[in-house]
Amino acid sequence: MERTPERVLVIVPTYNERENLPMITRRLREALPDVHLLVADDNSPDGTGRIADELAEADDHIHVLHRTSKQGLGAAYIAGFRWGLAEGYDVLVEMDADGSHQPEELHKLLDAVAQGADLAIGSRWVPGGRTVNWPVSRELLSRGANTYVRLVLGIPVRDATAGFRAYRAATLEKIGLDDVESQGYCFQVDLTLRTVRQGLRVQERPITFVERTVGSSKMSRRIIIEAFWRVAVWGVTGLADRFRPRR
Ligand code: GDD
Ligand code: MN
Repeated sequence: MERTPERVLVIVPTYNERENLPMITRRLREALPDVHLLVADDNSPDGTGRIADELAEADDHIHVLHRTSKQGLGAAYIAGFRWGLAEGYDVLVEMDADGSHQPEELHKLLDAVAQGADLAIGSRWVPGGRTVNWPVSRELLSRGANTYVRLVLGIPVRDATAGFRAYRAATLEKIGLDDVESQGYCFQVDLTLRTVRQGLRVQERPITFVERTVGSSKMSRRIIIEAFWRVAVWGVTGLADRFRPRR
């Protein structure tokens, strides 16, 4: 018997991705014609939001969420998740606009979810995963951050900062989005930790992360500092929970 295909929404947050958005949209539509796309734009000064509107006008599988100002990756995704949950999608995907996450590899994450994962992560740091054209400094930062996360939080995930992932709608409903405070890229670690702490199934699939060729990264010192201290706080609260007497 044919399985009813699930409704999948790919959320792409954008800030100044004018050159990349048409490229990533075309590649996603070609790779997986049934999935829907939601662009979550933070009022990009370069006019990305207008381009998103034009793409949406020409294609009923493309939607746009206009946000008033740059409030960080985490806030953009939360708004996108809320929109997608309200619209009744079954699977909600995170994907960067700049081509680093290849739409042609998304089926791997959707397969993992279909096979029972509550969260599937496209991982650079499991066997078979790799990066292309990433500067050594970024690779060291990512590997260092993941080692730090594993030591402090003790979660069995090799790429907890990865931004290419597929959530079951039920996973997002279960972990709760209302009290997420993470603004920058530590949002990824935050939601991974919440998923693990709920006892849900996280699975990693190897991907090839291709560094962008156009535009620039929004990674900043502020994002790194936020990640560092928030992970430390989560580590301490996790320890406190572990030693709290059970009744
Ligand atoms: N709406 C919105 N608001 N979008 C944002 C913001 C923001 O404040 N900051 C970044 N983005 C969008 C970018 O436009 C892009 O589509 C995506 O988020 C990723 O941003 P990049 O700036 O390209 O991230 P990166 O390549 O440096 O970082 C990658 O690695 C990180 C660490 O592993 C990404 O995959 C991150 O998701 C990942 O955490
Ligand atoms: Mn990027």
